[in-house]
Amino acid sequence: MARRRDRRGQPSQDRRNERVESETREEKLSDADASERKLIGIFVVFFIVIPAVSVLVYVYKYGSGTKPLEPVVTERGLIKTDISFQEILSENSKVSGNESLRNYDYPVLAYITPWNSKGYEMAKRFNSKFTHLSPVWYDLKSQGSSLILEGRHNADKGWMSDLRMRGDALILPRIVLEAYPTELFKKKKMREKAINLILNECKEMGYDGIVLESWSRWAAYGILHDPDLRNAALAFIKQLGLALHSVKSARTPEQQLQLIYVIGPPRSDALQQHDFGPEDLQSLSGAVDGFSLMTYDFSGPNNPGPNAPIKWIRFTLSLLLGSAGNNAKRLAPKIFLGINFYGNDFVLSEGSGGGGAILGRDYLSLLEKHMPVLQWEKNSGEHFFVYLDDDGVKHAVFYPSSMSIYMRLEEARFWGTGISIWEIGQGLDYFFDLL
Ligand SMILES: *[C@@H]1O[C@H](CO)[C@@H](O)[C@H](O)[C@H]1NC(C)=O
Repeated sequence: MARRRDRRGQPSQDRRNERVESETREEKLSDADASERKLIGIFVVFFIVIPAVSVLVYVYKYGSGTKPLEPVVTERGLIKTDISFQEILSENSKVSGNESLRNYDYPVLAYITPWNSKGYEMAKRFNSKFTHLSPVWYDLKSQGSSLILEGRHNADKGWMSDLRMRGDALILPRIVLEAYPTELFKKKKMREKAINLILNECKEMGYDGIVLESWSRWAAYGILHDPDLRNAALAFIKQLGLALHSVKSARTPEQQLQLIYVIGPPRSDALQQHDFGPEDLQSLSGAVDGFSLMTYDFSGPNNPGPNAPIKWIRFTLSLLLGSAGNNAKRLAPKIFLGINFYGNDFVLSEGSGGGGAILGRDYLSLLEKHMPVLQWEKNSGEHFFVYLDDDGVKHAVFYPSSMSIYMRLEEARFWGTGISIWEIGQGLDYFFDLL
């Protein structure tokens, strides 16, 4: 699990104010004092009042049509809050709908990791459900006074040609920019080198572009606290985007190579300088084709709870789009709203937290072993259950369900965004019915 952090993007931090919601932390909440009540007040304003107003304004301006899912999918009767563990155990491996039909017409980006091979299979099987596929293959690193792009050994050409025979999904490998940012922003030559390495890899390997992740690292390096460096960072992303756009795709010559940029949700109630905000979105939107928004990991082992509360998702979207005015309609389709296909198994013991990410197969074995009652947490829009392990220690397990995924897919439709999934090998087969 050493790669857990890396796998799921930046860790959650400074979310104390947002943590008062969950009913599952009843023990901790029982000694709530005045300061917690104050936090609840802040919570209500930031996560309920502001999003509610923005949502109303947004709907009033842009409206939202309704398009039902394929009837065979809804007729299965799994999209409900009172689901039982037996239903999940008997239904999770079945897909009722046509595997090549889509229920939504917005862009769908799916991440695939080399350390979880089920994702490669899912990408092939449900190929036409995705518009963008991002295998997590590359790191751009500093090496001495130069740069190297590592990860070609991960690239699976056979898989790529299989995908291309089956469908049209674009293949954009993810590159994490690990290189020392100050070097990069000080030296023009270094930036050119970085861009050339990326362009050459795309040309040689026939990619349709890339997904770039760098923001959380730049924040960690302190780059984004310095206005000049922050501007240099934005300028670099634009330069890379324009360079990619100047190259024609090998597969479809009328298309250019694309840049999708990974962004995180703000880490506290009010936007900080190191957060990626609505102005950054506007400023980059000419050079960047999409923004993969990591709306997951709201909770962690030290503050167990839902992975991505629906109100927090709304808050994040209203923050990014609510102030965009007439541009919202243009910007929303560029956002790929992040949806987790993994879950968490948290230890609820006093003091030290513990536990962490679980995949579909771990979830199924917990259901088989403990036969738990699944509970629906209305505030976050997530299912969870509680169990006692062999040592009598209490755990809470949050893992997506048909209901929770459906709510988030609808949320994306409502805002006019696309979605991104981290990551398709960690989910259960019946999730794909909903896409
Ligand atoms: C699934 O949908 C595709 C595209 O509409 C169609 O060509 C195919 O025949 C369908 N498959 C089944 C089993 O209905």
